[in-house]
Amino acid sequence: MSKSVDTDLPILQSIRDRWSPRAFDQKPIPEMELQAMLEALCWSSSCFIEQPWQLLITHRGDVRHQVLLNCMSEGNRSWAQQAPVLIMAVARLLFTCNGKFNRHAVYDLGQVIAQLAIQATFRQIYLHQMGGFSVEAAKEAFGLNQNQEPYTVIVVGYLGDPDKLTETQREKEIGLRLRRLLDEILH
Ligand SMILES: Cc1cc2nc3c(=O)[nH]c(=O)nc-3n(C[C@H](O)[C@H](O)[C@H](O)COP(=O)(O)O)c2cc1C
Repeated sequence: MSKSVDTDLPILQSIRDRWSPRAFDQKPIPEMELQAMLEALCWSSSCFIEQPWQLLITHRGDVRHQVLLNCMSEGNRSWAQQAPVLIMAVARLLFTCNGKFNRHAVYDLGQVIAQLAIQATFRQIYLHQMGGFSVEAAKEAFGLNQNQEPYTVIVVGYLGDPDKLTETQREKEIGLRLRRLLDEILH
């Protein structure tokens, strides 16, 4: 299933093709593919090259994978559990050089995940980012300290069969992708 968008002018194919599915195949992601995605991610820019991102990667069948699934809201977990990989995206909030608060850390984290998503789509691998999880439960389960704040859990995998979703989920899956007009965001 493709949800590639039509654009007025030519843009990168991976940007046109990227979307956030709920129907994932259980097929594992080959290690080389995952490594390539992570290598692409490393080349994102960040304030003072701090690279304040930390990723916890779990694979379906691992104990830690189930622990991460348990941190999710029920609605998200119901479809996310099919996917082969979950990534918890964590920002390190303090600069390593001086321990001061890095107000750009979250900006940098979002940027790096966007880069990951574009690279993944290039290889027909899709991401679905989620804020619907318990931050407190995740911090406790994975022993994060006050300097480590998880912002999203990201479901990663190949496209699956939308007919295996619930009716409500399927409607979202096949629904139109809409965006604000450029006029609304340009000032
Ligand atoms: C920070 C963030 C949090 C999100 N949280 C959820 C979530 O908890 N559950 C969910 O189904 N989708 C979640 N999404 C996915 C968005 O709903 C989705 O990206 C948006 O509808 C646009 O669709 P598209 O990515 O297919 O273009 C989240 C996305 C982001 C970036």
